[in-house]
Amino acid sequence: MATIIDGKVISAQLLEQVAADVIEFKAKHGITPGLAVVLVGDDPASQVYVRNKVQRAEQVGIRSIKHRLDANVSQETLNDLVAELNADPEIHGILVQLPLPKHLDEDEIVDAIAPSKDVDGFHSLNVAALATGKPGLVPCTPQGSMTMLRQTLDDLTGLHAVVIGRSNIVGKPMAALLLQANCTVTMVHSRTRDIASVCRQADILVAAVGSQKLVNADWVKPGATVIDVGINVEMLDGVRKLCGDVDFESVSKVAGAITPVPGGVGPMTIANLLANTLQAAQAQMS
Ligand code: GUN
Repeated sequence: MATIIDGKVISAQLLEQVAADVIEFKAKHGITPGLAVVLVGDDPASQVYVRNKVQRAEQVGIRSIKHRLDANVSQETLNDLVAELNADPEIHGILVQLPLPKHLDEDEIVDAIAPSKDVDGFHSLNVAALATGKPGLVPCTPQGSMTMLRQTLDDLTGLHAVVIGRSNIVGKPMAALLLQANCTVTMVHSRTRDIASVCRQADILVAAVGSQKLVNADWVKPGATVIDVGINVEMLDGVRKLCGDVDFESVSKVAGAITPVPGGVGPMTIANLLANTLQAAQAQMS
């Protein structure tokens, strides 16, 4: 059986560190780090994510302000809100929960956020910084996945990492971070030929596609480290249950280590969001 990489335990350590650093920040600067979370519309999953982010922020001493906008809000109103938050000295981090309703231009909104307050790391300038190895704000889910890998493996150098999925939020930044950690990186996606045979070569396999239980034991090299980024809803005997992109039951018999869903990457994402908020606040003070 594979070792379970426990996201609850690892994220609790990180949150504890952030909470201690927030206390120090407040003592030094006399202000509280502030995170603005913008939620447009009433997508149920986004509502849950935003509620969790706001709750966790309060727990580590970060002030969080939620802005809830109607699903049919105009681009102009949303741009104006972002401009207001950019100019607010009490707000150090801004997060616009994605996806946005179809009539809004996501790229425009993300690039309207001040790069120094872009705690998601989605702004073009932060994307460029990551791609070229310069300092910047790094997307939370890939960052959390890297922390789990570093706690599991002594050295990532020279390992073959295969990333399934090429999204801007996870797949692409994950590949950049693995490359920075001296892995040999392969990206596979829906158009890849014989995806299973490529995945079977992986020492590190990261699944980030949003396709329920796509990865089965046949795709996994014995002893590999498997990071499951997927959060999918499965109906089991009429009950809603979360499951990942990896078939945990079969893969955990082959892998060396594996993250569960829930309780794996998910809690790491939120912890890193708060770490990024503190990092942004510290940078804005200097
Ligand atoms: N939607 C799904 N994941 C994310 C995330 O990490 N940040 C934001 N803003 N929206 C998301």
